[in-house]
Amino acid sequence: MKTILVTGGLGYIGSHTVVELINAGYTSVIVDNLSNSSIKVLDRIEQITGIRPIFYQCDIQDKQALTDILYKHQIDGVIHFAALKAVGESVQNPLEYYQNNVSGSIELFRQLKNHNIKTIVFSSSATVYGDPHKVPIKEDFPLKPTNPYGWSKLMIEQVLRDLYTSDNQFKVGILRYFNPIGAHSSGLIGEDPQGIPNNLMPYIAQVAVGRREYLSVFGNDYATHDGTGIRDYIHVVDLALGHVRTLEYLSNASRDNLLTVNLGTGRGYSVLDVVQAFEKASGKKIDYKFMPRRSGDIAACYADTNLAQQLLGWRARFGIEEMCRDTWNWQTKNSNGYTN
Ligand code: NAD
Ligand code: UD1
Repeated sequence: MKTILVTGGLGYIGSHTVVELINAGYTSVIVDNLSNSSIKVLDRIEQITGIRPIFYQCDIQDKQALTDILYKHQIDGVIHFAALKAVGESVQNPLEYYQNNVSGSIELFRQLKNHNIKTIVFSSSATVYGDPHKVPIKEDFPLKPTNPYGWSKLMIEQVLRDLYTSDNQFKVGILRYFNPIGAHSSGLIGEDPQGIPNNLMPYIAQVAVGRREYLSVFGNDYATHDGTGIRDYIHVVDLALGHVRTLEYLSNASRDNLLTVNLGTGRGYSVLDVVQAFEKASGKKIDYKFMPRRSGDIAACYADTNLAQQLLGWRARFGIEEMCRDTWNWQTKNSNGYTN
């Protein structure tokens, strides 16, 4: 059995990944500063899996605390989720984003190197492609983020590429996620945004449950089939399984251990397609109003998934129906998220 350090492991994607790691027989050691998560997630993971992961409330920038943890546990690999992730906030507070995401990651990687821990899986984002010249997006497309959050992801990717060049004993998986939505089928863990949700799916779910009056649809004049923006939504459990597959790949591969892959479904849905699918899954009417385009948004973004299929043997299994069904199940069971 292998022990994996999971930074940000109580967050949305981290918690689902910890569940899948446990299901696959790994031991997880979670490090999270709880800046955007609830300690209750630990109980929920235990309820789902019957195993309580080891947890440290710790910031990845806290050198001493991290060193102590790495001395205490025999860590075989790391999945690095810990980051701030709100695009608008990153434009307002770029230094905070570069400090937490970039400096925090460098500090973490330094400690890993000191402890001879050389397997690193990193949460990157499709946001590194900026506004793509065409879709579907392949991994070798130009990289040109449009905001500090996106730049922080690209900078960390570069740090990892350079680290690998300096020492090819490192095994690095850079995973570029498209739009994760959905929740664990138990309804015990899911996405719990603080305040008004920035992203489409949690906003729709809160309209359905009566917490918000209507959805503002940002733009209906894009060059898409219905004028609204198209994205590649991926079930968070599929995404979690992509991390487990990546760890397996890195532990087996004998060469080329620097992997950069898109994790998406390869299918695009418009805002109105998602509204319709959610109405079907929930039986609720989602009121919406068309608003002007949101600054920084692009018309269409979806993944070319061939590389993930070829290298990892991984592809997303769940469709938009299951994504909406599981979001609705989570939302109805936890109408105020983890705060009840
Ligand atoms: P999340 O906010 O739910 O989880 C991140 C976790 O990291 C939180 O629990 C937070 O408390 C913790 N954290 C933040 N800074 C920390 C620090 N300095 N030290 C320790 N813990 C810290 O976000 P998520 O949606 O689960 O995203 C996970 C990762 O995936 C992030 O790196 C994010 O940038 C990336 N990502 C997310 C999406 C998305 O749509 N959710 C898309 C692409 C990439
Ligand atoms: C956003 C981030 C991106 C991040 C991604 C996943 C921005 C500009 N980009 O992307 O960096 O990687 O989330 O977390 O914030 N929409 C509405 N009404 C809403 C919310 C969204 O119409 O209330 C529309 C958007 O215009 C877009 C689609 O829904 O067309 C999806 O939006 P969202 O969920 O915010 O994801 P992205 O814009 O892809």
